[in-house]
Amino acid sequence: MRDFIQALPKIELHLHIEGTLEPELLFELARRNNVSIPFESEAEVGEAYEFTDLQSFLDIYYQGANVLIHEQDFFDLTWAYLLRCQQDNVVHTEIFFDPQTHTERGIEFDTIINGIHRALAQAEVDLQITSRLIMCFLRHLDEAAAFTTLEQALPHRDKIIAVGLDSSEKGNPPEKFQRVFEGALAEGFLTVAHAGEEGPASYISNSLSLLKVSRIDHGVRCVEDPALVERLIADRVPLTVCPLSNIKLRVFDSMAQHNIVELLRKGLCVTINSDDPAYFGGYMNDNFLAVAAAHSMNPREIAQFTFNAIEASFTSTHEKQRLEAIVNDELSLLLRQAD
Ligand code: ADE
Ligand code: ZN
Repeated sequence: MRDFIQALPKIELHLHIEGTLEPELLFELARRNNVSIPFESEAEVGEAYEFTDLQSFLDIYYQGANVLIHEQDFFDLTWAYLLRCQQDNVVHTEIFFDPQTHTERGIEFDTIINGIHRALAQAEVDLQITSRLIMCFLRHLDEAAAFTTLEQALPHRDKIIAVGLDSSEKGNPPEKFQRVFEGALAEGFLTVAHAGEEGPASYISNSLSLLKVSRIDHGVRCVEDPALVERLIADRVPLTVCPLSNIKLRVFDSMAQHNIVELLRKGLCVTINSDDPAYFGGYMNDNFLAVAAAHSMNPREIAQFTFNAIEASFTSTHEKQRLEAIVNDELSLLLRQAD
């Protein structure tokens, strides 16, 4: 199973670039930029990454991001993640970034996006990894701050495919950002939103109806509303599920209790993603392996996660056909070897 998962081409649709900051780079950037961090050693960092819920993680995650100052820092962060994609055979990735985490500290919007974008462009040439960029609004901040961020993004609209919504879910419902999302849609951006991670199923339905999202990030609490599950199946609404994240943040007690395989078998367009891999103990292969180990799955079912991700991705029809051909070729080879 390990060899099959390693060889299977993968598509990632739910990845926060700030969540890929590994302790080694955290220390290097802290030194380079003379920023103090609340850890003495990499071992101490590991001990601090024990979370009780989403907020306990976010508090540490925003502190870590303080070491990102210069365009080169954003490039280095993104490039390190793309090298991990190459290791895990991730051939296409759609990346979130949180500009407000940085602009609130006085970092220019251009510094952030130019660093990230330069790494993505280089990966297309040097690593044959294609990508899209999604700008998230921090939902614990207010509507006015989100509108300011949308304005800052307009000169860079060619680099951003969609806007999203992340950070503290409970108490920050989708309706808080309905007008901002209307503005983003009018500017030609697609929309996505984190919903139903810790928040109730109604946040999923309201993200669909009020924010007009093309995908739901997480969405695992949809099962609390059977009518919503039927709607997700009928409309093939993609859910970008993050298994290891959900265990670390205690959305589920164990991987055996995670509902991702149940959702897949019901016919939902579920995908596997790594969310914040530097904090949750694994990149794409680790997430696939953890799901496959806890649920008995056959290779075709595992490959279905990749086909769902191609269907759910924001690439062109032509690019989707290219990705499907890559996966089909590899899959028939792997299945022949297995027989
Ligand atoms: N920001 C980074 N990771 C997140 C998650 N899992 N949920 C909400 N906001 C986030
Ligand atoms: Zn997320």
